[in-house]
Amino acid sequence: MAKVLVAFYSRDGSTEALAQAVSEGAVEAGGTVRMRRAREVVDAATMATVPGWTEAAGRMNALYEAPGVEDVAWADAIVLGSPTRFGLLASELKAFLDGLGGLWVQGKLAGKVGSAFTSSSSVHGGNEINNLTMFVPMAHFGMIIVPPGYADPVMFRAGTPYGASAVSYGASKAPPTEQDLAAAQFQGRRVVQVARALAAQPAATA
Ligand SMILES: Cc1cc2nc3c(=O)[nH]c(=O)nc-3n(C[C@H](O)[C@H](O)[C@H](O)COP(=O)(O)O)c2cc1C
Repeated sequence: MAKVLVAFYSRDGSTEALAQAVSEGAVEAGGTVRMRRAREVVDAATMATVPGWTEAAGRMNALYEAPGVEDVAWADAIVLGSPTRFGLLASELKAFLDGLGGLWVQGKLAGKVGSAFTSSSSVHGGNEINNLTMFVPMAHFGMIIVPPGYADPVMFRAGTPYGASAVSYGASKAPPTEQDLAAAQFQGRRVVQVARALAAQPAATA
């Protein structure tokens, strides 16, 4: 049974919807999933500058625990999801990763499967770069990075080989499309399949 941590940040719900789809795919493939939402690092006044942010954060924080070191230690696979922020992952998710030094120095992240997904407001606003950027800490951790590639027909339609992504078109807050969600579900399934294969060959990740 592959254990999957889906650790994400989301303010408007787009990345959250992808996180749910990744989780659905992982469960469908026989995985056990923990969904966790990183917590705010900006102050309440900043959150209040955009209508809906404070309320959405409250709603999501009631649904999802914050990711913790114990979740990471538990997981065979860690799937990171973040809105694109000036082309990079959100500081909220990065703050979570920055708390993993203790596990990293003990080598306890090495050999876990890693994968990434994102949401951006514009089509070429950095979503592919953001998914690649989330691979960087995974490399430091010694994780086995698993992109969806074009390993399923749905990926030819979604066209996001580095990781699922959705475009929210800013203030219109467009939800992920059916293709975006199908790609995210496939990504969840693939992560479980690879984690299970690695678990059957522990020497491969030692
Ligand atoms: C500080 C900040 C920086 C952002 N930078 C980008 C960006 O570089 N490219 C982009 O397309 N969207 C950018 N966005 C928009 C978000 O990526 C977009 O709204 C995303 O869909 C939000 O995901 P969420 O609904 O999960 O919060 C930025 C938003 C904020 C608040």
